[in-house]
Amino acid sequence: MLRLKDIVVVRDKKTILQVNDLHLAEGERLAVIGPNGAGKSTLLKTLALLEIPTTGEVFFRGEKVTGKNSLAFRRRMAVVFQEPLLLNTTVFNNVAQGMHFRGIDAAERKRRVDYWLDRFKILALRNRKPLNLSGGEAQRVSLARAFVLEPEVIFLDEPFSALDFSTRLELLEDLGLQLADTGANIVFVTHDLNEIPYLTDNVAVIDEGVVVYKGGLKSLLAGEVKVLTVQRLLQPFKKSRLLSV
Ligand SMILES: Nc1ncnc2c1ncn2[C@@H]1O[C@H](COP(=O)(O)OP(=O)(O)OP(=O)(O)O)[C@@H](O)[C@H]1O
Ligand SMILES: [Mg+2]
Repeated sequence: MLRLKDIVVVRDKKTILQVNDLHLAEGERLAVIGPNGAGKSTLLKTLALLEIPTTGEVFFRGEKVTGKNSLAFRRRMAVVFQEPLLLNTTVFNNVAQGMHFRGIDAAERKRRVDYWLDRFKILALRNRKPLNLSGGEAQRVSLARAFVLEPEVIFLDEPFSALDFSTRLELLEDLGLQLADTGANIVFVTHDLNEIPYLTDNVAVIDEGVVVYKGGLKSLLAGEVKVLTVQRLLQPFKKSRLLSV
């Protein structure tokens, strides 16, 4: 449904992303991992049409993305970042906001907002302002705001990195449940391999702007992937003293 072809992104005279051919199939859920500064966010933003590549082409459902059609395609996508980026108005208005631009009428907006607040277990927060929400609650609002748009693809850039461990697990579980019902494509950037199995088994590893592996997480963890970056990424997890219970 999304494809990058011969993409190069140059910023400050430096190539920060170089992807010859990357294809996100219909319904595919892709986790993206890699060291800090590897180009994960740049890859996500390029796929989400938020970053204009220096050269190369992006295709959305077979159609080439251009300056003219990119806004229409962007309206079929939703993005969730690490920082919730909420407006200083009620939770309800925050979740309803994106639908205004998409011409959805008030009754339908209300129906959808209440439905998604309920599914993300925050209906009781409907009239609260984001400033006094906890980090986990605020991120639930961000997720509801993405799902309410009924997007064909959802991009998540380290959405839970700032949350404590148990909140992170709860959110991953709830997100996994909602995704199972929608069938939306997702691209999920994380620096924590432990988060991936909640959402998918399909992972891309990126290093210095290049996708060095795309395939199953299980083969990666089984040590079957003989790529230096992958082995380096796995090392801290092997050495970790985390208890498994
Ligand atoms: N607009 C820009 N101008 C100059 N350099 C940039 C720009 N955007 C990104 N970069 C650089 O490109 C590289 C990749 O950045 P990117 O944010 O995609 O990495 P990342 O893998 O998401 O990192 P992190 O794990 O820290 O989030 C970094 O070295 C970053 O400094
Ligand atoms: Mg990033």
